[in-house]
Amino acid sequence: MSERVAIYPGSFDPITRGHEDIVRRGLDLVDRLIVAVAYRATQEKRGIFTVEERVELIRQSFDGEKHVEVASFNGLLVDFARSQGASLIIRGLRAVSDFEYEFQMALMNRQLSPGIETVFLAPDVHYSYLSASLVREIASLGGDIDDMVAPHVKARLEAHLRG
Ligand code: PNS
Repeated sequence: MSERVAIYPGSFDPITRGHEDIVRRGLDLVDRLIVAVAYRATQEKRGIFTVEERVELIRQSFDGEKHVEVASFNGLLVDFARSQGASLIIRGLRAVSDFEYEFQMALMNRQLSPGIETVFLAPDVHYSYLSASLVREIASLGGDIDDMVAPHVKARLEAHLRG
């Protein structure tokens, strides 16, 4: 049987425990999962980390996990997915508020590339209210983010905010 490959795209500024949870759930469904940081989304949103830094933080989160790859991409997600031989796009769905945007993207991506299916995964309820933008805000205001990001991410955030 051929290998099942999925792309998990996003901004990941920075990767949170919620993203990590989605990756782990995705790994139960596929043979290879590519976490992909989008350049375009990075340019459009005001963020903290460069794409290269985000990729490095994600790599550290999945160090030793041989079924997870980390990449960045420019251009259309479906083109990147095709170039990687991926048949699935994985997205986390936290709440109803995510639905409209996610549904629109899923249908648009299907129109662009009918062979690629989007799969929505619900995170652990503990992470259902977590977002990278809130993590950035809480960290910048000196709040406790211990349960929200891995220790290496917290350290980089703090270093970044100090600098
Ligand atoms: O974490 P985000 O910012 O919600 O992720 C959004 C992302 C990166 C998945 C989306 O902006 C995307 O796919 N960008 C790549 C460009 C693209 O294909 N745009 C058309 C989407 S229908």
